[in-house]
Amino acid sequence: MDQAKQDAFGSRLTDILNHGALNLALALGYQLKIFDVMADMDKPLSCKDLARAAGLHPRYVQEWLGIMCTGHIIEIHGDTSEASTYFLPPEHAALLIRKAGSGNMGVYTQEIPLLTQTVMARVAADFFKGEGIPYKAYPRFQEFMAQLSHAKHRQVLIPHFLPGVDEGRLMARLEKGIRVCDIGCGQGIALHLMAETFPASSFTGIDNDEPAIAEARSGAAERGLKNITFLAKDAASVQDDPDFFQAYDYITAFDAIHDQSRPLDALKAVRHMMAPGGMFSMIDIDAASNPAENLNHPMGPFLYTVSLMHCMPVGLFDKGRGLGMMWGRDQAVSLLTQAGFRHIQVLEMDHDPFNVHYQCR
Ligand SMILES: C[S@@+](CC[C@H](N)C(=O)[O-])C[C@H]1O[C@@H](n2cnc3c(N)ncnc32)[C@H](O)[C@@H]1O
Repeated sequence: MDQAKQDAFGSRLTDILNHGALNLALALGYQLKIFDVMADMDKPLSCKDLARAAGLHPRYVQEWLGIMCTGHIIEIHGDTSEASTYFLPPEHAALLIRKAGSGNMGVYTQEIPLLTQTVMARVAADFFKGEGIPYKAYPRFQEFMAQLSHAKHRQVLIPHFLPGVDEGRLMARLEKGIRVCDIGCGQGIALHLMAETFPASSFTGIDNDEPAIAEARSGAAERGLKNITFLAKDAASVQDDPDFFQAYDYITAFDAIHDQSRPLDALKAVRHMMAPGGMFSMIDIDAASNPAENLNHPMGPFLYTVSLMHCMPVGLFDKGRGLGMMWGRDQAVSLLTQAGFRHIQVLEMDHDPFNVHYQCR
């Protein structure tokens, strides 16, 4: 036995315990908007002043600050605990607050605690059965996904992503007026943005989660959007529906194919829906299909964990395929090919290094 190797692993496990605890405490701070309050005040604060400004109980805030300063997220100043003040450095705030937009990593701190709270026991039980878990077992997932989408799409979709599609040609077509469909649209954030920006085009969102579709519709109504329709439907069911034959010029799927029970049928549906000369953008997590090739992936353990707790079980449900979020480039290209796409480009995106764009004709 190599003692040095064991010692190194022991200290790594200590880091893991600390970082796991920090993730939970960061998620609480994010949820309770403590980081936003500290960033707005932009000066060292006593625990009492911070608790007052955030509308929280000082004893809880004090314990939380203990985690934040020993975890080096927040700076502590002062010699005695009574005189201590706490400061969130602007460099940390820039990655933790809601105003950070697409740079907001605070929103991601909620993901593991949310999944732990909602399905950990069920996932553990499913290790024995492998039956999968329905979407409705994740009550706050769509709300969380919408927060992610807001953070991600608001600053990126219109100014960076769409201008890169079809070497810039898509933008002119959207401005002129085309028919667009988003598969697995969730609460419709991407479509709301596109429909607002391109009033001459028409937009359809498809998702089989009825509550998400209801939210998407009310979001469109609040914005007064008339060029948008949302349908509560299983994307896979569209593949034989004559009403959808060649009905769309541009089809998107943001992070929405890998957790479908019948992803190949959903992709065949996309092909069925695509008008001649049309284009499909599938945006999905960038990974290799073989875990051995993901050893240097900067978020490998995080993404595999989210997949284990959510994407894979929802994809397994109803005797589904259960691809999981880390299905990777090889499987993605293979499924797209089986669905009938002949021109598949795998495009990396400077503005979004964690996803890849499969641009298909
Ligand atoms: C990870 S979420 C992504 C949501 C949205 N595209 C976004 O970027 O925020 C995946 C979405 O796919 C939807 N979905 C899963 N299976 C589906 C199916 N068979 N048909 C249509 N939508 C499905 C889920 O309800 C969920 O809204």
